[in-house]
Amino acid sequence: MTALAPQTIFLKDYAEPHHWVETVHLTFALAPRATRVTSKIVFTPNTNNLGDLILNGEQLSLKSVTVNGAPVSYEVTDTHLTVKQADLPCEPFTFEAEVEISPETNTALEGLYMSSGMYCTQCEAEGFRKITYYPDRPDVMAVFTVRVESDLPVMLSNGNPQAAGAGWAEWHDPWPKPAYLFALVAGDLLAHSGSFTTMSGKDVDLNIYVRKGDEDKCAFGMQALIDSMRWDERVYGREYDLDIFNIVAVDDFNMGAMENKGLNIFNSSCVLASPETSTDATFERVEGIIAHEYFHNWTGNRITCRDWFQLCLKEGLTVYRDQMFSGDMRSHAVKRIEEVLQLRARQFREDNGPLAHNVRPESFVEINNFYTATVYEKGAEVIGMLRRLIGDEAYYKGCTLYFDRHDGQAVTIEDWIKVFEEVTGRDLAHFAQWYSQAGTPRLTVNETWDNGTLTLNFTQSTPATPGQEVKKPQVLPIMVGLIAPDGTEVVPSTVLEMTESAQSFTFDGLSERPVASILRDFSAPVILQREMDAKTRAFLLAHDTDPFNTWEMGRMLAKDTLVAMIVDGVEPARDYLDALKTMVTDATKDPAFRALCLALPSQDDMAQTLFDAGVTPDPMAIYEARENLRHILAAELKDDLPALYAANDAGAFKPDADGSGKRSLRMAVLSLLTLNDQGTAAQNLFETADNMTEQAGALTALLSAGIGQEELASFYAQWFHDRLVMDKWFMMQVAAAAPLDAARIAQTLTEHADFSMKNPNRFRAVFGALAGNHGGFHAPDGAAYKLLADWLIQLDPLNPQTTARMCGAFETWKRYDADRGDMITTQLKRILATKGLSGDTTEMVTRILGA
Ligand code: PHE
Ligand code: ZN
Repeated sequence: MTALAPQTIFLKDYAEPHHWVETVHLTFALAPRATRVTSKIVFTPNTNNLGDLILNGEQLSLKSVTVNGAPVSYEVTDTHLTVKQADLPCEPFTFEAEVEISPETNTALEGLYMSSGMYCTQCEAEGFRKITYYPDRPDVMAVFTVRVESDLPVMLSNGNPQAAGAGWAEWHDPWPKPAYLFALVAGDLLAHSGSFTTMSGKDVDLNIYVRKGDEDKCAFGMQALIDSMRWDERVYGREYDLDIFNIVAVDDFNMGAMENKGLNIFNSSCVLASPETSTDATFERVEGIIAHEYFHNWTGNRITCRDWFQLCLKEGLTVYRDQMFSGDMRSHAVKRIEEVLQLRARQFREDNGPLAHNVRPESFVEINNFYTATVYEKGAEVIGMLRRLIGDEAYYKGCTLYFDRHDGQAVTIEDWIKVFEEVTGRDLAHFAQWYSQAGTPRLTVNETWDNGTLTLNFTQSTPATPGQEVKKPQVLPIMVGLIAPDGTEVVPSTVLEMTESAQSFTFDGLSERPVASILRDFSAPVILQREMDAKTRAFLLAHDTDPFNTWEMGRMLAKDTLVAMIVDGVEPARDYLDALKTMVTDATKDPAFRALCLALPSQDDMAQTLFDAGVTPDPMAIYEARENLRHILAAELKDDLPALYAANDAGAFKPDADGSGKRSLRMAVLSLLTLNDQGTAAQNLFETADNMTEQAGALTALLSAGIGQEELASFYAQWFHDRLVMDKWFMMQVAAAAPLDAARIAQTLTEHADFSMKNPNRFRAVFGALAGNHGGFHAPDGAAYKLLADWLIQLDPLNPQTTARMCGAFETWKRYDADRGDMITTQLKRILATKGLSGDTTEMVTRILGA
């Protein structure tokens, strides 16, 4: 029984398992430190690939094993249980085992664990092997029947309830599924119930299970679930397939939520919402994640992944689906801008650093490390590009064929691409390169005008990424429109399909030279490099019909302004200030859109922008320039801010697009207003607000202006009993801290009685905020680097998955000066030298260092 060195697993090595599973019967006798798991599994030898029975199993205390009721010889290691082929029947056989596990001491939050007195599970990606011996791989799909025994009043598993009595409950899931979708919950829980009638008239019971005290935070999530179910029927023709759909809120959870069949388990921060305790951003996130997990029922569960390299098959597609849903529920324009902000902040950052990888990776050590912005968000962009290239009709036709053909199967990206090749008759091999080539393409464009003909000359190139030196041109759908000098659109949006390194497209019959609006709706995930003067940007800002590009022009003006302030120390350009003022005060425009225009590019975004322009970013200079610009904007808009603030009072709280749009503009205005009025308006709002969006918005405005300590204390006194609001309290202080204070504030907060590193939300509240406070994280003394490393070293033995994810904070180290680079790599090496460091963290740190 020796621990093996972590192995690299390769996509090219995929082989079918030696055995398939027909049915699984599991019995759980729950006890905090000694849960008995009895399994009865019917295996069928795989005639394509006969061999030993190989089962995964980790941290299990094995009690007994039989095959067809009789003892059998087997071999056990730290990771596997193997029965030799020679010792097994050639026909289907029944394997039975009994193991003991300890949920109470399971701090990794993977497998069966306890959270605030309840039992719950997390099996994706490879957590089921910590529950019992099993072929824990997604291509093994089986029908599960589960019996739970405990004194707790609520006992849940996947599928439909089958029978129950005092101290036990049985569940049966008729749909074959891989083990990663298994779930079990038991606790003293309350249900917020609802119901849904499917398009074929079947009634489904819906429940959101929560701990006592949270039952008044479920109504919004329930409505989001009902809206999602209806949307998937209407848009994709997908109907729900069980009698019951349960959601459980759990306080301790490594990720956002999990799509277990019929029993979704949610981080409580992603399902609970009430006006008093949750911001508009939380409501929007809850709606999107409920939809995401529900949509997995078809894209992930009914059709699953053959192996974990295909993760984007379910995640990219499901993110794309939840994005479309949210756009339909709210505003497509606003949603698209938010998506691009996220993509640039997370995925471009990843794609331009040492962790860059393919949307479909070709090797990994620990699959947990590949639940990334690239797999999820870039994976979704790839689906969006596919749809743009083949059109809506072919897209939905292909999806329907995919559902019909592959229902009940574990499939690959090739299977996904093939349905679209069939419905369009097109060869999509070149397009599919998006799955196998990492890196963000740089797209350049220049224009020539000749006697009524406009020519757009494009070039594309993708910088090298780790392990991929040579890049090929990608297929880029470039959506373009042309605007005449008088502001009318002379050529509406058309999609140009670029496939070469250099390619030109012409538009003729034009009477005057138009201004081109390029990459509308951000039609491809590229960095567009286009020389453009401030006047042209301002022209498009005023006249473009594409809301994304309108916003983008304002964004480019803001970035140019900040770059000039940082690099040349000049004052902001008049064109920018005038354009911004016009946009923000234009009451005919959507407030949510105006709020997005008013928001300045983040410090991290500016650091990457400078780096791309060949300038080593100085985090302190970036911070100073951005603060300086905030003060200049506050002065420029001095007379407008009070009126804007008053006009965007949304009245009684409703978490819809209208109300949240007004509040987001109002909070952006308040943040500037606070720089002019010494905090009077913000203090006033803090006292009187009846919703968390405005209460937290006011507090953030005060803290960002360097005041608000009294309000911070009264916020604590009001909310100390509410875990999710307390996460905000921890987070806001670190996020709003000035660079030289951030590490000290974070450090002090770790000493607070309410800090606990065992709760991922609380750990992330402090350290996610520290890593996200660009100036604070990169303060010249390196204190933040050291503090984060100290805590990652402490967390790793308890929770490797969350530790490994948070190492991403260091992924940008090559952007900065040699001093910072040295300080960061010193900390990374210190982490790596820690005795007994987990495989998860070892892989991440090694990749970041670029060994
Ligand atoms: N599959 C989950 C989702 O996309 C994410 C997740 C991965 C959750 C791994 C837990 C563990 O919603
Ligand atoms: Zn997902």
